[in-house]
Amino acid sequence: MTAFPRFTPLAASLPSTVPFVGPEAIERQRGLAVRARIGANESGFGPAPSVLATIAEKAGEIWKYNDPENHALKAALAARLGLKPENFVIGEGIDDLLGLIVRLVIEPGMPVVTSLGAYPTFNFHVNGLGGRLVTVPYRDDREDLEALLALVRQEEAPLVYFANPDNPMGSWWDAGSITAFARALPSTTMLILDEAYSETAPEGSIPGADALIDLPNVIRTRTFSKAYGLAGARVGYGFGTAGTVSAFDKIRNHFGMPRLSTEAALAALADQDYLVDVVGRIKAARDRIAAIATANGLTPLPSATNFVAVDTGRDGLFARAIVDGLMEHGVFIRMPGVAPLNRCIRVSAGLPADLDLFEEALPKVLASLR
Ligand SMILES: Cc1ncc(COP(=O)(O)O)c(C=O)c1O
Repeated sequence: MTAFPRFTPLAASLPSTVPFVGPEAIERQRGLAVRARIGANESGFGPAPSVLATIAEKAGEIWKYNDPENHALKAALAARLGLKPENFVIGEGIDDLLGLIVRLVIEPGMPVVTSLGAYPTFNFHVNGLGGRLVTVPYRDDREDLEALLALVRQEEAPLVYFANPDNPMGSWWDAGSITAFARALPSTTMLILDEAYSETAPEGSIPGADALIDLPNVIRTRTFSKAYGLAGARVGYGFGTAGTVSAFDKIRNHFGMPRLSTEAALAALADQDYLVDVVGRIKAARDRIAAIATANGLTPLPSATNFVAVDTGRDGLFARAIVDGLMEHGVFIRMPGVAPLNRCIRVSAGLPADLDLFEEALPKVLASLR
């Protein structure tokens, strides 16, 4: 008997799960209000005042579709990074671009290499397009470049995903190791080098924008969601060789970028003073999260991102109890999804008032668990 509606066998086989439970959904499900939103690696510091002014100024143009070629933003990014506009693709956040890359490269059943416990939205796209995820465990809470390369070779994988700095652990590699990894890959393997947290990364950890621009099998992705404080605007970009980047035009949603989001991103790029200032505030918030964790007998891990992974010294059940317990106090945080990373909780850099709430609630939650 045929079931209706008829979906593709792949769609019919997919689990009907929601990959991320958002803070709004948690509020609805648990009847609790989020008072400190420090779980989704957004930036509570928000975008620059100049960006908000631009959004207000341009709001009246909302009746117009956006330029489907995103020309102005590509040109501004090219000027900033010393590349050409044709090296860029603009998307609705990195999340959108990840889906498009998987669509461009993967046919059902093909192996895709990533790290066990790495950014789950990538896995969501691979599963949704029928790829076969093959994973490498983290080593010392870092993605294991050597093992990733070995698995790519063993599987003859057409796609490998790697984030530097990494989510959920906040760890990072030096630029030299990253470029060596990219250059060692078979030319038949596409690398997604996800640099969502490049703005908060330490000196020497992000290869120069042109360091890999000769390689057709490398796409680097970045976003305005993190340090630029524009997660709700959904603006991400990828860069690579003009030939590789042009392939996105075959499948992307050409009118997908919201007009005001592009204006906001342009204004954000133009206000680098604010970026410098906010990166300083993110670092200060990281230090404070680490100090709060230490004061409570927990171990903060070094971080190159806008969050801190904190080792609870116990297992995933204990970390989950902390996450749930903090939410009882209105403090929304998250945790890695997979062992052994899930012995940690993950706290996003937030405003001092948010971290005050975290500082107040954490000892109470830990006491209740003893
Ligand atoms: C590694 C990584 N890549 C991509 C994203 C999503 O970026 P965007 O908001 O541009 O879709 C995140 C967000 O948490 C992330 O941690």
